[in-house]
Amino acid sequence: MKKTILSGMRPTGGLHLGNYFGALENWIRLQDEYNCYYFVADWHALTTGYEDTDNYKSNITEMIADWISTGLDPERGVFFLQSSIKEHAELNLLLSMITPLSWLTRNPTYKDQLSQIKEKNITTHGFLGYPCLQAADILMYKADFVPVGEDQIPHLELSREIARRFNFLYKKVFPEPQQLLTKAKVLPGLDGRKMSKTYGNTIAFSDTPKEVQKKVMNMVTDPARIRKTDPGHPEVCTVFAFHKIFNGEEVPKIDSQCRAGEIGCGECKRKLAAKIDEFHTPIYEKRLEVLKRKDHIKDIIREGNQKARAVAEKTMEEVREAMKIDWI
Ligand code: TRP
Ligand code: SF4
Repeated sequence: MKKTILSGMRPTGGLHLGNYFGALENWIRLQDEYNCYYFVADWHALTTGYEDTDNYKSNITEMIADWISTGLDPERGVFFLQSSIKEHAELNLLLSMITPLSWLTRNPTYKDQLSQIKEKNITTHGFLGYPCLQAADILMYKADFVPVGEDQIPHLELSREIARRFNFLYKKVFPEPQQLLTKAKVLPGLDGRKMSKTYGNTIAFSDTPKEVQKKVMNMVTDPARIRKTDPGHPEVCTVFAFHKIFNGEEVPKIDSQCRAGEIGCGECKRKLAAKIDEFHTPIYEKRLEVLKRKDHIKDIIREGNQKARAVAEKTMEEVREAMKIDWI
């Protein structure tokens, strides 16, 4: 029997290459080996973005279009929308009864975000309860593994603690979900910082091939290189970091040519642009096709929702029975 994995993404709109190499590539790779649930965590997005909800619908559509265009296959896994499966809210509520406040307030992600996000008020019940809702997402499907990045380790730890506490208090219903530590490739943003929409340093699947070429040609390189003959330091150059991902076989050659001052940054970028284009353009085009059929995207989610709901209903029966709240 295949093991079950589950993972979710907040609908932040069109995905970029950082999202792809940080998570999606792994999701795609795991499709055949596991029984997969992939979902849009729109309630989680609301924990911080509750004020302006105008863009949610289009963000969800675009993100699912990106999943499909990059090769995540709704035939091989279950795609669903968190807010369609109301059982997540019920399980979140019940788990919140047994989750000590101190587990939530000591969560490093919570503390980080509180200190970083200044422009909105996130001192809310919902935001504090973020990991409890995440535990509900995971435990609902009795996921064995959760493929997520390092930043999610504390949330996963909390999910295990909550599962353990539930099993101890009532009855063993939930397996303890393990993190599936996958070697995500780290692709920096165009400016060398983390690739993020907030920094405006992304290459998105929605960017036209022309825009992508332009972005690559405008990347900053090793500042020590003014003329082609200046010896360079590839380790400080973002273009080089990109070559490592898109142009693996040429990396040793570029490394030595850069250090010896035998290749100009312009040429180096053109090589990279061509490699990125090979990867990006087919996805860009597929995406346009997928987005032409929004009804089809909705059908995929409706179908996934049905499968997810069937599992969720069954789990909730077990949960209510274990807690003895199945009086009628
Ligand atoms: N917190 C996750 C993130 O920001 C998203 C998420 C919500 C999730 N629920 C989940 C991931 C359950 C894995 C499993 O990336
Ligand atoms: Fe970077 Fe390439 Fe220029 Fe070297 S030659 S500094 S690796 S862009």
